[in-house]
Amino acid sequence: MQLKGRHLIDPDGITLEELNKILSLGLQMNSNPKKYSEICKGKILGTLFYEPSTRTRLSFESSMLRMGGNVLGFSDANTSSVKKGESVADTIRVLDDYADILVMRHPSEGTPALASNYSTVPIINGGDGWHQHPTQTLTDLITIKKFKGEIENLKIAICGDLLFGRTVHSLLKTLSRFPNMEFILISPPELKIPKVLKDEVINKYNVKITETTSLEECMAEIDILYMTRIQKERFLKEEDYIRLKDSYILNTSTLDNAKEDLLILHPLPRVNEIHTDVDNDPRAKYFEQAKLGVYVRMALIVLLLGVIE
Ligand code: CP
Repeated sequence: MQLKGRHLIDPDGITLEELNKILSLGLQMNSNPKKYSEICKGKILGTLFYEPSTRTRLSFESSMLRMGGNVLGFSDANTSSVKKGESVADTIRVLDDYADILVMRHPSEGTPALASNYSTVPIINGGDGWHQHPTQTLTDLITIKKFKGEIENLKIAICGDLLFGRTVHSLLKTLSRFPNMEFILISPPELKIPKVLKDEVINKYNVKITETTSLEECMAEIDILYMTRIQKERFLKEEDYIRLKDSYILNTSTLDNAKEDLLILHPLPRVNEIHTDVDNDPRAKYFEQAKLGVYVRMALIVLLLGVIE
């Protein structure tokens, strides 16, 4: 099935074959960006961001601009007619005439899915509440593919806020579909992965999942360490955030027993959970990860637009 004209709301909406196609094209674009510099001439990307973002919005904009297309949109819903009470449905009915493809971030879970019911052009979920963030997962996967070769036979530790972290939810669901993956989920007891999600991936894909509170214990055995931020904006009580915010801080000594070819990832933004000294470690690839996000989003845009089939 073609990706042309489809929405991307949940990572489950694309097959493994389609995922691999996006990643391969993204890596080709990364190797030879000039080849694609005019491929989207005359096309417009609309960005509808109801919640703050640096990487997702600007990497999408950079992707479209690097392919010769144009961008429009809002980065603060308060500067749009949302402030006057306009519904998401009406906003989409208008914007789908102004742009050829739309990216939406929204604080409410399910809003991009709702928007897709009203759109005649592809809608991409740029993150909805604590739910899903499928293009961050594409960013994570292209980074793993670039530095590990194949996405298979990997032991991955995911650390931090696994309850509210939408990047974790999308990543766990998606990596579980690749061959022979094993997960160590590290979090404070209050911020464990939602049980329904854990049960879903175990039942569907038969993956091995270990849950723990210790970051240090697994360090020698893992191939990838995926650190995440404690999601301040999702807490109901500030005192709970303050109590949990520094639960894990990766520093150079935590890495003493780690593998030579460990891949250290983080979706960013980072707050305090990776000490800046770690940035000089060649295994730290989170800024490279953010850069690759541009190329994988370029691939996604052209495939959804049908510019490349
Ligand atoms: N990783 C990510 O979604 O970053 P932004 O919130 O800056 O878009």
